[in-house]
Amino acid sequence: KPLVVAIDGPSGSGKSSVSRETARRLHAAYLDTGAMYRAVTWYCLAAGVDLQDAAAIENACEEMVLAISTDPDREHVAVGGEDVTTAIREPEISKAVSAVATTLGARAELIRRQKQIIADSGRRIVAEGRDITTVVAPDAEVRILLTASEESRLRRRGLQLGGTQSAAALEEQVLTRDARDSTVVNFHEAADGVFTVDSSDLDFDETVDAVLSVIRR
Ligand code: CDP
Repeated sequence: KPLVVAIDGPSGSGKSSVSRETARRLHAAYLDTGAMYRAVTWYCLAAGVDLQDAAAIENACEEMVLAISTDPDREHVAVGGEDVTTAIREPEISKAVSAVATTLGARAELIRRQKQIIADSGRRIVAEGRDITTVVAPDAEVRILLTASEESRLRRRGLQLGGTQSAAALEEQVLTRDARDSTVVNFHEAADGVFTVDSSDLDFDETVDAVLSVIRR
């Protein structure tokens, strides 16, 4: 049975970039589950689905044809054949994504697809998100919670967005979204058997090394 590495963490913890690099170093596949929530959000906005209507979001999620690359060197997400790789990173999507993430029926559908992708990958895989260590892959051989202080998460996300955002805008993006997401998944405390890696005082390479040493321990 191929190795599964599950990594969860809040926004700005470095989760996506660290997980992708970890997958490269392990010659493993990589699954960005956040991209799937973003893709559903993109689809709902494009189709004019009312984001207050849970049943409509759930339907959209079930009918949506979603393809996501699990090659860590090829970032690619398509909805109904349309390439949405860059569109799903727009602030408009980041703002609306919690509506999808807090719709339990949509979560159930995405969790089902994520479990399938992991089972079908047939090789080592690093899967990353908010509920991978607890819900999507609670049986993973390695489970890690990547945390960071609020201050360093805000600083990182600010740099990632080009340093052009005001402090208030960043707080809205990082802290408000995490607070909304926290109502359905707990990604601030490590579940039993989950290793915590705190990246507050680590740079990118040091964080990847810390994750690799948990995997190799
Ligand atoms: O932008 P950031 O790295 O913080 O988030 P992301 O990994 O792109 O995920 C976008 C959104 O998807 C999160 O804010 C959550 O609302 C949702 N999400 C989730 O609910 N469960 C997951 N396993 C992954 C993402």
